[in-house]
Amino acid sequence: MCGIVAYVGKKNAQSLLLEGLKRLEYRGYDSAGICIGQDHTLHTRRAVGRISVLESALEHAQTQLPAGHIGMAHTRWATHGAPTECNAHPHMDDKNKIALVHNGIIENYSTLKQFLIEKGHTFSSQTDTEVLAMLIAHFYKPADKQAEPGADGERSALTKAVQAALHETRGTYGIAVMAADEPSTLVVARRGSPLIIGVGNGEYIVASDAAAIVEHTTQVVYLNDNEMAVIRPNGFRTMTIDDVPVTPEIKEAEFKLEQMELGQYEHFMLKEIMEQPTSIENCLRGRVDLLEGRVVLGGLANYARDLVRARRVIITGCGTAWHAGLVGEYLMEDLAKIPTEVEYASEFRYRNPIIEDGTVVIAISQSGETADTLAALREARERGALSLGVINTVGSTIARETDAGVYLHVGPEIGVASTKAFSGQVVVETLLALFIARRKYMSQQVLVEFLNALNKIPEQVRRVLEQTDTIKTVTEQYVQRENWLFLGRGYNYPVALEGALKLKEISYIHAEGLPAAEMKHGPIALISAGMPVVFIAPRGSQYEKILGNIQEVKARGGKIIAVASEGDEHIHTVADHVFTVPETIEPLQPLLTVIPLQLLAYHAAVARGCNVDKPRNLAKSVTVE
Ligand code: G6P
Repeated sequence: MCGIVAYVGKKNAQSLLLEGLKRLEYRGYDSAGICIGQDHTLHTRRAVGRISVLESALEHAQTQLPAGHIGMAHTRWATHGAPTECNAHPHMDDKNKIALVHNGIIENYSTLKQFLIEKGHTFSSQTDTEVLAMLIAHFYKPADKQAEPGADGERSALTKAVQAALHETRGTYGIAVMAADEPSTLVVARRGSPLIIGVGNGEYIVASDAAAIVEHTTQVVYLNDNEMAVIRPNGFRTMTIDDVPVTPEIKEAEFKLEQMELGQYEHFMLKEIMEQPTSIENCLRGRVDLLEGRVVLGGLANYARDLVRARRVIITGCGTAWHAGLVGEYLMEDLAKIPTEVEYASEFRYRNPIIEDGTVVIAISQSGETADTLAALREARERGALSLGVINTVGSTIARETDAGVYLHVGPEIGVASTKAFSGQVVVETLLALFIARRKYMSQQVLVEFLNALNKIPEQVRRVLEQTDTIKTVTEQYVQRENWLFLGRGYNYPVALEGALKLKEISYIHAEGLPAAEMKHGPIALISAGMPVVFIAPRGSQYEKILGNIQEVKARGGKIIAVASEGDEHIHTVADHVFTVPETIEPLQPLLTVIPLQLLAYHAAVARGCNVDKPRNLAKSVTVE
């Protein structure tokens, strides 16, 4: 949902910024732009489309930029204003003295715009961001600019103007700002949208995500909400927006560059699906103690008693994280015996939820930055809930705002369609449920059986992945069909939802996921000859029931694609196609049954010529509500 990268240092800023933008392209990709500061002038170029379009524009003689050592760039996912060149960032004031890139939404932009129009300013875009650029320019007092050269605590004109403008601003932002008259100063600030400062040797790279930084330095400072930084080649200062100094904490970035490269794969989504045996192993590492028969979750050590006494759990998230949350609801009630609900974060935050004593809220998010999930978490905390995070991105906002949590440790997920994060989220929820169950009633022996089963999952996932060619061949037979159903029961109902979402989001095929028994209450009317219906039907407590549902679809001419247990001969007599998963205990089945559905969606998208890693209209991290 928009990506920002900015640079101050000794290198040629343009190439570094373009490389950074490519690493952030997953955050939004309808337009892009760059600004280079040189000779007291801000030079900007913007283009509609992918970063490559901007890059080609910068190669033409007429649109080349001068070389400079300070600059910033942006990749956009439109919120206010269509994806056109004049709405692309950077935005400038009407005198071309201030340039700004922004991630987030300025909620009171129309009031501010009216005020600025009355002051005689003219606007050239429909964006909220241009209003902020203009407002900063409005407060910019050139008389202050002599303070610019030193990093000595003296506020420059730009620093003061940014602070003054942000005081008038409601909404969320991660911003980088440059002023023509302060040619070596970059001012950045955040509220609600992530911003990380990479601290190099005589150079600084600021970005919305460490992905754009780690190629240059692994030393990072995570800005907190309502903090800003003034960065110059010789140093940087951090402070609150109210100008209270903040001592920066420099940390080592979590991930390495190789994790963000495609390697042998054509798409990040396929890479991330295939990585799951390893990512699940990494997620389990150090957390399963078979010798002592216990689950080790260091981040929860101080909260074990609260969790054991919890009277209610609310799990919240969006998209795939919500689906993982639904598996979590089944796990929490089944294993930890705590009444649990899963709530869409966007609904939870606005519906005046009841939080009683003993309520634990678990926020699930790959990015740790999803605006609705963050707002739901804040609402829950405000009402006194103990909050836990199940997050992948270390140091992200949600991770920092929860009381405690468990990281996924599955490595960066770049493909917009979430895959390895889902399996990581389900693994963490399983560990959490077992962590509580063991302290409440579960015998060590039963726990050890669970842990043994969990330890087998990576190898079992590997076996499922071996079927990728079969899944591809079957998928290609149905890829022209525009309507699909995904049906499952019990633990495999959330998997049906996730399978349908995967297919929708990357191949643009309409798909619905349902509890198999619900089909009879309406959706069965959709079934016509040849319609593909995917049943998640491994052996388990509801196996016989789902066989009945399969017959009902078959009788109406539907084509059955079944995800079934290895060695189940019977299923071959009723299904048209079968993908198999090894046997495991029922609560762990989603970790295996989701894999064929991820591969199915992937192969469908490739066969339909869709852009797998960057599906239309979507963004990896939705930082606006
Ligand atoms: C977006 C992504 C989904 C993701 C959801 C929640 O919609 O396209 O893949 O599941 O956001 O993201 P989070 O980072 O909070 O898990």
